[in-house]
Amino acid sequence: MLSDESKARIERLFLHYPDKRSVLIPALFIAQEQFGYISDEAVRSVAQFLELSWNEVWAVASFYSMFFKRPVGRHVITVCMNISCMICGAKKIAEHLKAKLGINFGQTTSDGKFTLLEVECLASCGTAPVLQVNLRYHENLTPEKVDSILEELEEWKNGRLED
Ligand code: FES
Repeated sequence: MLSDESKARIERLFLHYPDKRSVLIPALFIAQEQFGYISDEAVRSVAQFLELSWNEVWAVASFYSMFFKRPVGRHVITVCMNISCMICGAKKIAEHLKAKLGINFGQTTSDGKFTLLEVECLASCGTAPVLQVNLRYHENLTPEKVDSILEELEEWKNGRLED
């Protein structure tokens, strides 16, 4: 069930959108913050609150890679593995990350700090290779840049997904 705080945040969005259906994507972000991922309960709660069907909500949630379908760690690192990034060294970046974190794509570190995912094009092909940490982009990556990103995250105490 959506919390009172989540409902209030979604209701505030109604002021900026023409109808409830249009609020679906930001409402899913709010639900993801509350539930940690887009669980079945999150889909049902958002559908009920926006007066949409479960299928309508799931169709959108399942399309976008920024909505997690399983529990994730505090920091979600999403690596683009599509053509421009591959040409510019994404495989090396991915292998470096896997070695540093000791996990493969689709896995979370045992301390729950990091989840590593792969994605098909982050729409920043001109600055390949690219990865995303939560919602923040990191571009023109090198293994050294990846190291400093990870060091920064290790020191970061507040793990809210939108930061
Ligand atoms: S191919 Fe990586 S951002 Fe498009």
